Amino acid sequence: MATAVVTGATGILGKEIVRELSEDSNRWRKVYALSRSKADQYPEHVEHAHLDLTSSARDMAKELQHIDPEYIFFSAYLANEDPDEATRINGEMLENFLESFVINRKERRLKRIVLVCGLKHYGVHLGNPKQPMEEDDPWIPEPPAPSNFYYRQQRSLQKFCTRHEIPWNVTYSNEVLGYAKGNFMNLATTIALYAAVHAEIGETLPFPGPEVGYTSFDCFTSSRLHAQFCNWVVHEPRARNQAFNTVNGDIESWQNLWPKFAEYFGLRVPADQFSGSAPDQSDKPMGDQAPITFVAAKMGLNAKEIKPNKLRQRIDLKRWSQRPEVQDTWKNLASRHGLDEDALDRATWDFAAFVLGRDFGLVANMNKARALGWTGYKDSWENFQEVFAELAEGKVIPPRT
Ligand SMILES: NC(=O)c1ccc[n+]([C@@H]2O[C@H](COP(=O)([O-])OP(=O)(O)OC[C@H]3O[C@@H](n4cnc5c(N)ncnc54)[C@H](OP(=O)(O)O)[C@@H]3O)[C@@H](O)[C@H]2O)c1
Repeated sequence: MATAVVTGATGILGKEIVRELSEDSNRWRKVYALSRSKADQYPEHVEHAHLDLTSSARDMAKELQHIDPEYIFFSAYLANEDPDEATRINGEMLENFLESFVINRKERRLKRIVLVCGLKHYGVHLGNPKQPMEEDDPWIPEPPAPSNFYYRQQRSLQKFCTRHEIPWNVTYSNEVLGYAKGNFMNLATTIALYAAVHAEIGETLPFPGPEVGYTSFDCFTSSRLHAQFCNWVVHEPRARNQAFNTVNGDIESWQNLWPKFAEYFGLRVPADQFSGSAPDQSDKPMGDQAPITFVAAKMGLNAKEIKPNKLRQRIDLKRWSQRPEVQDTWKNLASRHGLDEDALDRATWDFAAFVLGRDFGLVANMNKARALGWTGYKDSWENFQEVFAELAEGKVIPPRT
């Protein structure tokens, strides 16, 4: 039976890794859950330890003297809007954390290190990538693209693992669906808040993004399925030293999901919702160059003819959330159902705008993992419904009527 350490243990992805390992007690004898805050009650063989990953390797080594894991799942993340700062902070967090094992002379016990990343690896935050995204696609050159913290983390991981002969894995998730208490960085929460207010003041649920995004495909990652993937990948010898897309494996689009959301919240999609002028439009440029342009020549496309992408909202979500009638409606809802009055202010509207406002779709395939025997799968609509139910139970959104 093995021992593991999970960083980012209170995060939307890390929390589920802790849960998955703790429930699989035939394989995992001891699980150390690390974060600055402690949010969960854990079973007996899970031990929480406080750790600030922004401290030095030496300070972390002191804090971690008592732990002796064989497997590391690195799922911590510190957001920063400046790409260079995000790269420095998240790069150093991983590098210093790994180095603390060398200081404590515990690196020799390590059998596998898993680093949790996402589809921003393919530059989806900069614009349209080559699709479907596959793990062997070339990395985007930086410069001209801005620095990508996943690249620094992956390079550092591979260097460390080569030096100490430890196998590694990296996961690439997208639009994570899960529930972490008190964590509003969650697409399902934002959509549910948007729908709950609409259900209170009207009968329709307008899609806030552009028609082109609505009619394209998107892919999602269940945080639970991702955790199961992590548990599978470290036990699959053929998967050593490889990165994997980790999405649900179904085929989904907003045109398919949005009417289901509307019905779930007692609403309908407005007829002909993309015609006419947008009620509160905002356009935000993405990268100077869409990622697909870097491989255009190989694909027989003309890079010069590919326009940079934009986030196009027909209803600017942030401004919508601050409208007085929206705020008042939410406050009434919150006091009626005992919910958080500040939920609208805490919700991550910018992240929702990034997902719903894209003027392109996103498809990552699971071929590589499937070829090695991974059979995990999740229906994304079922996934949304489960998270909505958890959010209602956790008193984040009103109960379903
Ligand atoms: N959420 C998504 O939709 C999504 C999609 C694709 C990829 N990803 C990637 O998945 C990875 C994990 O993200 P997530 O969404 O699960 O993150 P998250 O929910 O924001 O959680 C971040 C975790 O990191 C911990 N953390 C932050 N700063 C720390 C510090 N200085 N020291 C120790 N722990 C610290 C936090 O705990 P404390 O604050 O308690 O310390 C928390 O447990 C990231 O690389 C992210 O880019 C996420």
